[in-house]
Amino acid sequence: SQVTLTLNSAFRIAPVRRRTFGAFVEHLGRCVYTGIFEPDHPEADADGFRTDVLALTRELGVSSVRYPGGNFVSGYRWEDGVGPVEERPVRHDLAWHSSDPNTVGLDEFMAWAKKAEVEPMYAVNLGTRGVQEALDVLEYANAPAGTCLSDQRVANTGSEESHDIRMWCLGNEMDGPWQIGHKNAEEYARVATETARAMRMEDPDLELIVCGSSNSQMPTFGAWENTVLTEAYDHVDMVSAHVYYSEKDGDQASFLASADDMDHFIDSVVATADHVRAKLKRDKRIMISFDEWNVWYQHRAESRPPSGKDWPVAPVLLEDIYSAMDAVVFGNLLISLLRHSDRVASASLAQLVNVIAPIMTEPGGRAWKQTTFHPFALTSRYAKGDVLQVNIEVPSFENQRFGTSASADAVATWDEDSGDLTVFVVNRDASGALDLGVDLSSAGFGELVLVEAVTLHHEDPYAANSADAPETVTPQPNSSVALQGGRLSGELPAISWTMVRLA
Ligand code: AHR
Repeated sequence: SQVTLTLNSAFRIAPVRRRTFGAFVEHLGRCVYTGIFEPDHPEADADGFRTDVLALTRELGVSSVRYPGGNFVSGYRWEDGVGPVEERPVRHDLAWHSSDPNTVGLDEFMAWAKKAEVEPMYAVNLGTRGVQEALDVLEYANAPAGTCLSDQRVANTGSEESHDIRMWCLGNEMDGPWQIGHKNAEEYARVATETARAMRMEDPDLELIVCGSSNSQMPTFGAWENTVLTEAYDHVDMVSAHVYYSEKDGDQASFLASADDMDHFIDSVVATADHVRAKLKRDKRIMISFDEWNVWYQHRAESRPPSGKDWPVAPVLLEDIYSAMDAVVFGNLLISLLRHSDRVASASLAQLVNVIAPIMTEPGGRAWKQTTFHPFALTSRYAKGDVLQVNIEVPSFENQRFGTSASADAVATWDEDSGDLTVFVVNRDASGALDLGVDLSSAGFGELVLVEAVTLHHEDPYAANSADAPETVTPQPNSSVALQGGRLSGELPAISWTMVRLA
């Protein structure tokens, strides 16, 4: 079958936003301890951070990192994680039934973020705590020296420099009954609005993110956003969205079409936010912070927290191993996020290391790349300039969840200054290869040459990488892709992700 893409330099959606390429570090499993931080590791630096993980984080092209949770944050006392390490308390983390020695806290995270060259995004606890504790951590992190809490920061870090965190999440997944301190929409709208209002009294320029829905299947989806935004509209900039996909009960076809749900999710939140905008007669638009997204096999045993009397430190949790097919779906989710750059102002892949992560580590040993590392790193590196709308003509395939879905999905970016045009395209149909055809001759890009075409594909869609075989699934040059007489052509194998770079 044929997939025909139509694109034009005039079909611009929005500039590519660096913040689309955020990630997430939660105190969960081995994300922090033996993930980013392992003082005894041979490659640890003087602060205890694994330099191999730092290098991979930079290679991944991560722009911002959300911290410290996640479900964890809804029971977290930020003060436990600052000050002399030997005086910090060990606490039970109820969300993941683990113990946290609090060796890593806000100051350590900020030191790590600087080395990783990422912008921090900090979540406050609105589960067991409220306005005062949010103001306290804001004062500790951002206030200039001279107040009680900012002076503690100066004493603890040995530097007058403020952490100057700009993006703040007002709690985490407060719509979820699993959340510690879960609230209904009205209750959450009150506390989030008052927290935002008070935080803005300290600093009117903070970028504040109010909790939206934990996924589009939540019974309160849509109504939650409506209630929360109706109250919080004037005090926040973004509403969050979270989603995880996996192949369930062998339904490969629905899983391959997951990005259809992400498109629907974003469009629905945009519609709801704009409905509130009309209702309140406001000019400003609320943007989306898609601050948790990924493939996650939630039903598998690795995702189940310990129970009973066992409260381990840094247990193996949520250590999903990703297949070639997972990476194709994942690459498609990035296509969806990019396509919505007009309204998705920030996004965070959940998570960064070990926990449903593109980077895996062995305690004391190697760090290696999962299949999903590659579409993220390449999209982050080569999506530049403006996002272009791509019209796709392609057959569809049937699946249980969506009925029918287009066999291919694509987005493109065009950097007018450098002349770089990059096309990201997936064949998400298991039934066979697609012949790609793109007429670029009169699309306003001028003379183009093909720079490279790479495809991530494996004849076994369930093939995965491991510490011993980290190169099993990696993008390979796609020699079928050619540009002749202004027409781009090539073959896209079944279940594959492809990037074509032209200049
Ligand atoms: O990323 C794993 C968990 O998924 C987060 O802690 C929570 O916010 C979400 O349900």
